[in-house]
Amino acid sequence: MAYANIIGKWRTDPEGFWMDAAGAIDWIKKPSTALNATNAPLYEWYTDGLVNTCWNAVDRHVLAGRGDQAAIIHDSPVTSSKQVITFAQLQDRVARLAGALQGRGVAKGDRVIIYMPMVPEALVAMLACARIGAIHSVVFGGFAAAELAVRIDDCTPKAIIAASCGIEPNRVVHYKPLLDGAIDLATHKPDFCVILQREQEIATLVPGRDVDWQEFTENATPADCLAVEGNHPAYILYTSGTTGAPKGVVRPTGGHLVALNWSMRAIYNVGPGDVFWAASDVGWVVGHSYICYGPLIAGCTTIVYEGKPVGTPDAGAFWRVISEHKVKSFFTAPTALRAIKRDDSEGKLLADYDLSNLQTLYLAGERADPDTILWAQRHMKVPVIDHWWQTETGWAIAANPVGIEALPVKIGSPSVPMPGYDVQVLDEGGHPVPAGTLGAIAIKLPLPPGTLPTLWNAEERFRKSYLNHFPGFYETGDAGYIDEDGYLYIMARTDDVINVAGHRLSTGAMEEVLAGHKDVAECAVIGVADELKGQSPLGFLCLNKGTNRPHDEIIRECVTLMREKIGPVADFKRAVVIDRLPKTRSGKILRGTMVNIADGKSWKMPATIDDPTILDEITAALKSIGYAKDKV
Ligand code: COA
Ligand code: AMP
Repeated sequence: MAYANIIGKWRTDPEGFWMDAAGAIDWIKKPSTALNATNAPLYEWYTDGLVNTCWNAVDRHVLAGRGDQAAIIHDSPVTSSKQVITFAQLQDRVARLAGALQGRGVAKGDRVIIYMPMVPEALVAMLACARIGAIHSVVFGGFAAAELAVRIDDCTPKAIIAASCGIEPNRVVHYKPLLDGAIDLATHKPDFCVILQREQEIATLVPGRDVDWQEFTENATPADCLAVEGNHPAYILYTSGTTGAPKGVVRPTGGHLVALNWSMRAIYNVGPGDVFWAASDVGWVVGHSYICYGPLIAGCTTIVYEGKPVGTPDAGAFWRVISEHKVKSFFTAPTALRAIKRDDSEGKLLADYDLSNLQTLYLAGERADPDTILWAQRHMKVPVIDHWWQTETGWAIAANPVGIEALPVKIGSPSVPMPGYDVQVLDEGGHPVPAGTLGAIAIKLPLPPGTLPTLWNAEERFRKSYLNHFPGFYETGDAGYIDEDGYLYIMARTDDVINVAGHRLSTGAMEEVLAGHKDVAECAVIGVADELKGQSPLGFLCLNKGTNRPHDEIIRECVTLMREKIGPVADFKRAVVIDRLPKTRSGKILRGTMVNIADGKSWKMPATIDDPTILDEITAALKSIGYAKDKV
């Protein structure tokens, strides 16, 4: 009943519901209203409130007498080190970095790019920006210099904060040369860069531009928390869209605080003093919401884990961290569990660890397949909660609100909509479809607090990408259905975004890279099923007339090009050369049909296909590289 009551309260009085939720946040000036609809269909929340994110995530806990509680535990098997930072220490570090940034002219509204691996300083940098009203944009370390350059030019940062290196199990990631390369490529140049020198690699600093983090912060005057408006952008996080240009999702300050704080208790069932761990990366939205801000706002201890689910050193790594740090709620991507299951299918390594503090496992980032859920239930012996959300929303659209009421779990479903999200399944004409019928998943406007109000410098793109297709709704880009009990099922994307190991990638962006190869006349990239990573990108290359170089060589060059242009995270390792691409009569590439053929699923000949015989060629090409195995 508790969930029904909460939803009932929100539906009858959304304004009252979100004003109540705002009561859990320390405001410098309380907002007079929750929703601001003056510019509908663009909405804002808590517009006229004054607030500071860093105060709510750090200072208020120190003031409440919990300065000695661990705020961050850095557990880094790749550097064989562990470190605990209390709230009081965090306050000191953040205030000094914030002061040093202010001293170099970084002011409210200025952008700061953060390009760092999983070190506590990444969180310190994010919070320091929040402290002085600067807008951060964290860029994932697996992206190449060119991707970083695109982000530099889009958000024109005054400063960039980076580390000298990151550590992947098989190599050191040289952040500094990547950063230097990106700044060379970009048209916009930052005023200065702050470099965290890690002992694993000391980077060469550019005189006059780069400063050493240690020297920069050592004697800096601590900065106070600056009051910003509820609608002030807290951060910009770039995410993949249909084209090569990433979308700069804007996160508004007030709604972000309220929604994350609400979610920590209602969904993740944690509060002050509890240990919360999201095994993701600060470069993704999960890292923003649930490694940095959410747990700290709620007064939890958060774990910054610099390692992998397997190989650092083995498939028991997650169990070690959970037992050693007494994790109560744990959040990871299904891929990570599939990797563990592949190495330790019987879950034998679990026997070495005491997981008695763990109450719930949360999964998100990609579809949670039933095998993985059942395996986790069997071996971890805790409820496994799938929940569904996106970079754009910043917190769960659908979940099982365990902290309010643990609803029955239906395997294959991320459960039910959270308050604020009026989720509907629509047909192509925008009409709601009956329960059990597949359609486009859309959310009736307004979206709840914390979700994106717009895209950075791209309001028209925001409207086009999300609002125009179904007027009055936000288009999620996911397709699925709602069952008779109101449970959601997320089945596929409706666009060309693919999900590789929980990482959201654009096939359009990959096609732009392939098209840049001198021998490629035309190309397509699709996401094919992958047992470990969910999906994996596969390229189709049509070569220029007269190209007679070995195909293997061209494919190898394309793989290298993708690594250079997008980065290792694209995980682009396979491609095949074909004569022609299958298209509709109007010239649209039939990617969906190609995916079905590659995955060995049944498929229908598209009525609009230009030349049906091409599909035989595609099937043969796919078979030659081990796809299209079953009957087609
Ligand atoms: N910095 C630099 N490079 C990175 C990186 C980072 N932060 N993260 C990944 N990469 C690189 C990897 O080293 C790999 O490079 P390689 O081609 O040279 O081997 C490449 O990007 C692909 O990485 P990934 O897709 O992660 O594959 P993997 O084979 O290295 O690891 C898993 C497989 C399953 C262990 C890993 O994908 C994983 O931990 N997945 C969980 C993902 C997750 O938590 N997502 C969170 C989203 S909510
Ligand atoms: P990102 O913005 O990187 O978080 O990716 C968001 C996308 O990942 C969603 O639009 C979905 O396509 C997919 N996704 C995230 N969580 C889930 C889930 N629990 N089940 C199915 N798909 C999911």
